[in-house]
Amino acid sequence: PLVSMKDMLNKAKDEGYAVGQFNLNNLEYAQAILQAAEEEKSPVIIGVSEGAAKYCGGFNVVVAMIKSLMEAYGTTVPVAIHLDHGSSFAKCAQAIHAGFTSVMIDASAEPLDDNIAWTKKVVELAHLHGVSVEAELGRVGGQEDGIIVEDAEAAYAIPSECERLVRETGVDCFAPALGSVHGPYKGEPNLGFDRMEEVQKLTGVPLVLHGGTGIPTKDIQRAISLGSAKINVNTESQMAQVQTVREVLAENPDLYDPRKYLGPSRDKIKETVIGKMREFGSSQKA
Ligand code: G3H
Ligand code: ZN
Repeated sequence: PLVSMKDMLNKAKDEGYAVGQFNLNNLEYAQAILQAAEEEKSPVIIGVSEGAAKYCGGFNVVVAMIKSLMEAYGTTVPVAIHLDHGSSFAKCAQAIHAGFTSVMIDASAEPLDDNIAWTKKVVELAHLHGVSVEAELGRVGGQEDGIIVEDAEAAYAIPSECERLVRETGVDCFAPALGSVHGPYKGEPNLGFDRMEEVQKLTGVPLVLHGGTGIPTKDIQRAISLGSAKINVNTESQMAQVQTVREVLAENPDLYDPRKYLGPSRDKIKETVIGKMREFGSSQKA
């Protein structure tokens, strides 16, 4: 069924695992993610950025696509459709009205008071509709959807500010930027685990780890043990997909039917998602 993230993340936090947010880029991602979740009996969050939604034809198209696939597949596991890095109250409201079951309001580039004010507005609307909300403080480094954040070090979230934001807004989960990066890491990631522990103690809500691509398993496990109950992955699925497309096209230079390269690459996305579900411990938890 389609659900918000609230119950799935609270359960994950209590039981010591994380639910993956896997980003959708087109139809094949929705298929691969839903197939993986059902096979693994895992709850799943389908992340949709504003750019990805636009690419697909808008929020309504995304919701209709996921809903009809769930019907066609007979999906039994909990699925959340989540707006990833929502850029404004208006975008969050549009997603909610289109049927998204969860939204992230990312006002992390704003001063703290504005971030809190916008997040609070989104929570008021979302909760009326049974929709869950994620907020962010500090900046996740790297590049995603044209948002470039240069110096992740300077952007570590401050625990006391995190406590205030969560308390004043009533968000369901919270992403403190603690050194994670969108896209591949340059060298080993340097996550602020001491701060993560502090933020977990101060806020009490499930934490979210962005930039899940390229984080070593030991760091994933440590983050989960410190209250990270949602981990976002996009780039790794994209890399698996494109590598397969390249291989298939290189081996078959005369090939032109898109199903012949998108099909096998969809299976690679699915394999990647299954691997993450096992790593995060969400398999068999639905
Ligand atoms: O919000 C999306 C994620 O944080 C994805 O990060 O592309 O590095 O896996 P990633
Ligand atoms: Zn992110």
